[in-house]
Amino acid sequence: MFESLKPVAMDPILGLMAAFRADDRTTKIDLGVGVYMNDQGHTPVMASVKEAEAQLMQLETTKSYQGIAGDPGYNQHMLELLFGPEHSILSSGRVKTIQAPGGSGALRVGAEVIQRARPESKLWVGVPTWPNHIPLLGSAGFEIKEYPYYDRDTKQINADAMMETLRQVPAGDMVLLHGCCHNPTGADLTHAQWDLIADLALERGFIPFIDTAYQGLGDGLDEDAYGLRMMADRLPELLVASSCSKNFGLYRERTGSITFIAENAKQADIVASQAMSVARQIYSMPPAHGALIVSLILGDAALRANWETELTEVRSRIQSMRTLLTDSIQNNAAGVDFSHVQQQKGMFSFLGLNTDQLDQLRNEFGIYIVSSSRVNLAGINSSNIGYLSSSILSVLK
Ligand SMILES: Cc1ncc(COP(=O)(O)O)c(C=O)c1O
Repeated sequence: MFESLKPVAMDPILGLMAAFRADDRTTKIDLGVGVYMNDQGHTPVMASVKEAEAQLMQLETTKSYQGIAGDPGYNQHMLELLFGPEHSILSSGRVKTIQAPGGSGALRVGAEVIQRARPESKLWVGVPTWPNHIPLLGSAGFEIKEYPYYDRDTKQINADAMMETLRQVPAGDMVLLHGCCHNPTGADLTHAQWDLIADLALERGFIPFIDTAYQGLGDGLDEDAYGLRMMADRLPELLVASSCSKNFGLYRERTGSITFIAENAKQADIVASQAMSVARQIYSMPPAHGALIVSLILGDAALRANWETELTEVRSRIQSMRTLLTDSIQNNAAGVDFSHVQQQKGMFSFLGLNTDQLDQLRNEFGIYIVSSSRVNLAGINSSNIGYLSSSILSVLK
C-alpha cells in the first residue's frame, strides 16, 4: 500500500533548522525558529510553570480520562484572560470555550465547526499570514481567499487595500485576523483599523475568526486583546483561537482553546456540542498537563503575579532587541531606515532584505533567516548582536 506514497517536502522552517544544526560555525545565529529564547539563547521553562508543575505533582490524584471539553477551570480562566473578567460577554450565556491541543488544534476545531454550520463559507486570509494557516484551515475543507495585508515597499499594513477587499466579502464568509503580534510581519492593526473591520463585519455580515497566539508579547495582556474584546462587544458571532505555547512557554504541552460567540445562549450551547463532537472525531480529548498548569497559575494570586512578571520580562527583552537592532543598523549605515523593526510588535519582524542578501547572510555569515525575511527577534542576544548587525550592514552595502 505505502509504495503509492511520495515523500513530502520538509517544511521550509524545519529545513532551515536542520541546516542550522548541521552548520559547525560557532558564530552561527538562528533567527528562523519561532520560539522565545532568553539572552543565553535558551528556551527556558518559566519559574511559575515549574512551581505549578510541582504543585500538580502533589495535587493530581488520577490520570483517568478528562472530558472532551478539557478542564472546566482552565476554560473559565482562558475566557477571563482573553476577554477580561469584567467583560459583559462572560455573563451573556453567548460564549463557550473548549480546551484544544494548542492554538493549531483550536484553529482546526473552529474550522471544522464552521464547515458543519456553513460548508459554502470561504475563508479570507491576509497576505502574508502564518504559512501553516493555509494547510491547517484549508484541509478542513475551506476555499481560501486572500486580502492584502502588508506592503513590503512601505513596510506598513496596506490598510486601504485591505479594507477595500473586506468591503467585498460576502455575508457568511469568515475573515481570519491575527489578534496581536502578527506572524510573520509584526505589523499589528491599530485600534481604529480594528474598529473599521468590526463596522465592515456588521455591514457585510462576514464573521471574524481571530487567531491570538501571542497575548502578552506585544504591549501587554489587556492591550493585546483590544480587537477581540471590542468585537465581542459589537458583533453577533465571533471565533477566537488561542494558544498558551508562547505566553506560558508551554509549546510541547499543546495547550490552547477555541472560543465561540453565538447570537444567543441556545445557539452557543449547540455550537459547543458540535465542537465537542468534532474533537471526539479527531482526538477525543485534549492533553491535560499544560491546561492544569495554566489553571493553577491563573487561579492563584501569587503564581499569577510571578507569571505576569516573567511575561513582562519576555516582552521587554524582545522590545529591547528591537531597539538594539534598529539602532545598531541605523547608526552605522547612512540612509538605511530600520524604524519599522522598532515599531512592530511581538516576536517577529520582516527585515525587508531580498533573497540574495538572505542567501549571503546564511552562506557567508551563518545567519539563518526564513525566505520571507521574517526574523525572530528573540534569537538576538547580547553576545550575537554585534556580529549580527555588522553582517547585516555588510549585505546592505
Ligand atoms: C499565528 C499563529 N497561530 C497559531 C500558532 C499555533 O500555535 P501552537 O503551537 O499553540 O499550535 C502559531 C505558532 O507559531 C502562530 O504563530
